[in-house]
Amino acid sequence: MADTSTKQTSDAVPVPLSLAGDLSLLYLFSSTLLSTMKLNKLLHLILSALVCENNGLFGRSMLFLYNQKTNTLQGMLGICRENTAGFHVVDSDPDNPLSGFWDLEADALTLQQQSPFCADVRGTRIDLSDGCRLVTRVVHDRKLCCLADLDCQGCDECDFVERFGISTCAAVPLVTRNNLIGIIIVDNPSGQQKITGEQLQVLQLFANQAGMAIENTRLYRNLEEAHAELSEARQRLVHGAHLAAIGEMAASISHELKTPLITIGGFAARLERTLPEDTPQRHYLETIINESHRLERLLGDILAFSRKPTICYQPCNLKAVVEECLADYRLTLDDRKITLETALPAGRWKLLGDAGQLKQVCINLLTNAQEAMPNGGRLRVGLAGIEEQGRPLMVLSIADTGGGIPEETMKKLLTPFFTTKRHGTGLGLAIVSRIVQNHGGILRVSNTAEGAEFKIVLPQAPTEVLEG
Ligand SMILES: Nc1ncnc2c1ncn2[C@@H]1O[C@H](COP(=O)(O)OP(=O)(O)O)[C@@H](O)[C@H]1O
Ligand SMILES: [Mg+2]
Repeated sequence: MADTSTKQTSDAVPVPLSLAGDLSLLYLFSSTLLSTMKLNKLLHLILSALVCENNGLFGRSMLFLYNQKTNTLQGMLGICRENTAGFHVVDSDPDNPLSGFWDLEADALTLQQQSPFCADVRGTRIDLSDGCRLVTRVVHDRKLCCLADLDCQGCDECDFVERFGISTCAAVPLVTRNNLIGIIIVDNPSGQQKITGEQLQVLQLFANQAGMAIENTRLYRNLEEAHAELSEARQRLVHGAHLAAIGEMAASISHELKTPLITIGGFAARLERTLPEDTPQRHYLETIINESHRLERLLGDILAFSRKPTICYQPCNLKAVVEECLADYRLTLDDRKITLETALPAGRWKLLGDAGQLKQVCINLLTNAQEAMPNGGRLRVGLAGIEEQGRPLMVLSIADTGGGIPEETMKKLLTPFFTTKRHGTGLGLAIVSRIVQNHGGILRVSNTAEGAEFKIVLPQAPTEVLEG
């Protein structure tokens, strides 16, 4: 680079570039910008290149990022010449001036970040609505500007110039596709040389390339994020396919096991009846019977869970489904000293669905409610019609007084095989959720003052479907 340190900006005589020196400097700079896709490192490299000893361009460089919403510039990074240790040229060839690029060691990067000057810059926020004239002009005009063009000294609109002890400085916008990313401010500490016209030209060229490089790293980051999302989705799909295969296998094994299990339970029950009470053999048989019932339940749940959704739903009546389940359950409720309160008003409770599966939903919820109240309680079952976003919906609610669901359990409620019960299968709610989803509905769970409340929201069938 030509030594133009004695020339003043205010002289503003365009100084021709010393072609070989400046070309190699710009080459170094542009190849450096291509050397990394890490935004943080890139910013350090840009600011270090502007202040490093070898280039001798400026004494300090600062980066402020623009926030359009708040109309402010936030200080992000500040580097002074003393903090450029570890900044060096790599892969340069003495026979070829257009070779090599700058790099910065990881430790040096951390040191730069921890320097008091950087902390000062990071602690600076410039409000553009009533702030510094210099930066406001750079932001509005999107043009390089230097202190000599404006009289910022003694300006009482902000203390930026005074705070940083600036006597000669220049600010350049970082623009990509006409969007302002931020600005770079460079200066020479007081008492040192003024900024020359040639240095300003180099600064502008740096800034043009830096803007593009920053945009590139942003685009690259977006690409990386999109790629990560895609591969996550792919993994989910593969996982889903695996699960489906496992589900099918589980279903066929369950099916095979169910018949011999029923036989074992049945014969054990027959044998039990032939034995006198209080014999150890009778106790063994009781265990066989209980365990085979438990396994039957588990296999039943696995079969229900892995059942494929019905493709073609039939018109059915939700109120009739609920009443049928309650009739099946009445004796059990009486035994457990659970009082039943129903609110099942007459109305239009028709939907397109699979009555058998809806019954399963109801039974699973009633079973859980009853199991939550081993010492008795109150069970409320209700049906209500609501409208959401112009769509008529039906809400089936089942509430108990069993103390509710702890927060930790609430998070895992629908996870298959999650259970807090000694003999639970952990599939009841997973089945409910799947059936409800297949019917285009939503399952809502909440705690009331006394217990848990499950709400099933299902879409009402359109009149023309039922009557047409
Ligand atoms: N009405 C309820 N009150 C309190 N906890 C409940 C209720 N319903 C479900 N839970 C909790 O959710 C868990 C999962 O329920 P579920 O999927 O039906 O499996 P299981 O009943 O076999 O444990 C239960 O183990 C229990 O901890
Ligand atoms: Mg259950």
